[in-house]
Amino acid sequence: MASKSPKIKTMFACSECGAQTPKWAGRCAECGDWNTLVEELFGGPADLSLVSLAPTNRSGPARIGEIRSDTSRPISTGIDELDAVLGGGLVSGSVTLLGGEPGIGKSTLLLQLLAAREDTTLYVSAEESATQVRLRAERLDAIRPDLWLHAETSLPHVIQAIDETKPALVVIDSIQTMVDPDLSSAPGSVGQVRGCANRLVNEAKERDIAIVLVGHVTKDGNLAGPRVLEHVVDTVLQFEGDRHHALRLLRAVKHRFGPTNELGLFEMVGAGLVAVPDPSTMFLADRRTGIPGSAVVPTMEGRRPIVVELQALTSPGLENVPKRRSAQGIDGSRLSMLMAVLGQRGRVKVGNQDVYASAAGGAKLTEPGLDLGICLAVASAMHDIPLPADMAVFGEVGLGGEVRQVGHAPRRVTEAARLGFRSVIVPAKSPEPDDGLNGVRLIRVATLVEALRKAGLNQ
Ligand code: TYD
Ligand code: MG
Repeated sequence: MASKSPKIKTMFACSECGAQTPKWAGRCAECGDWNTLVEELFGGPADLSLVSLAPTNRSGPARIGEIRSDTSRPISTGIDELDAVLGGGLVSGSVTLLGGEPGIGKSTLLLQLLAAREDTTLYVSAEESATQVRLRAERLDAIRPDLWLHAETSLPHVIQAIDETKPALVVIDSIQTMVDPDLSSAPGSVGQVRGCANRLVNEAKERDIAIVLVGHVTKDGNLAGPRVLEHVVDTVLQFEGDRHHALRLLRAVKHRFGPTNELGLFEMVGAGLVAVPDPSTMFLADRRTGIPGSAVVPTMEGRRPIVVELQALTSPGLENVPKRRSAQGIDGSRLSMLMAVLGQRGRVKVGNQDVYASAAGGAKLTEPGLDLGICLAVASAMHDIPLPADMAVFGEVGLGGEVRQVGHAPRRVTEAARLGFRSVIVPAKSPEPDDGLNGVRLIRVATLVEALRKAGLNQ
């Protein structure tokens, strides 16, 4: 390939999925998004970087038992919540992408990460000046002799800085502002972002260092620019939360070295991000009891039970207008499905109502154990009857109106008991905690109708 003289030609690339096409179109044929095709120059020396993506180890096949496995052990980051999400820490030679909306705290988290390490680290700031970063580092108590800072957007200079400082961990903040002058496409374009990421992936593998790339996400939660980046890197972390709340949630959405379902919880305070030791208490802090339209659910995030409050409001919709199903912090299509089940199987007349449902506290939850809580919160709002203040509920709701078991029932019950709840509505066959019920009464239900009745909502 390298022997062929590169011919530069114009192509169009989708800024969402990275698909390429020789002709412009209003809609990307690959991912179906509108107005995402942008002009790119391909075929310059740039494209050669794409060829060298394969692993550098060219020793040929070997018996699986003879392959060394001690090379990709995670190294603790020094931040417990981050280690939990990563399954132990960062792996040398790996590249991690940290995505999140502007202002969510990506730069803060990574500066803290670099300062917590004991080996040499390098922070490449391609967005803020060295002075700005230094001022933030002072606030975060991150001034360390082994933490190097380089305010630079040019990739060759960054690689030179890696040569000079020999770090074990490099942060590039952000990949979208990196520029490789060897690439023919314009700065900030899909081609640049992809080309720079590819080169950095190669550097990480060749030098056996860990690299973390910061990536901004768009309003709808996608990584701005090419989603292709997600395929190139080993790990994709998502930093989310409501900018108006202090709570920040960190998840791995892709992870080649461990589980992807652990959740890290941070709170943004004056001195940066700190771990939230007791998330349930934090989620319930603003809860007012005795109000209709509220249900408390012990939900599971990875291996951790968290008790959250779900809220719902119903109001008569306009005539002849489709009724609204508005979800915040929970899945919108799940809410629509549950409202259909509540109407048809639970005989709660939500069909002519606009329904608003949200998870309080800015959390984004997707777990099926929330179903029954959503249904009871909506029914409670419809009937204007509050659920008992010391009652919690969990369970999956099926299309037949049946209540299905969900994982980790004992841990959910124990967490509800710890927070002072005295009764929990659970799927009929849920196992009990080994160490007893700690004063909690289990109300076992097999159907949605039964749950509504036992919660006092059968009107
Ligand atoms: P930042 O890390 O710059 O976000 P990102 O890199 O994702 O764009 O942090 C954003 C916000 O965090 C900023 O509005 C100020 C706030 N903040 C604190 O509240 N305390 C702190 O110690 C720091 C460093 C930032
Ligand atoms: Mg930043």
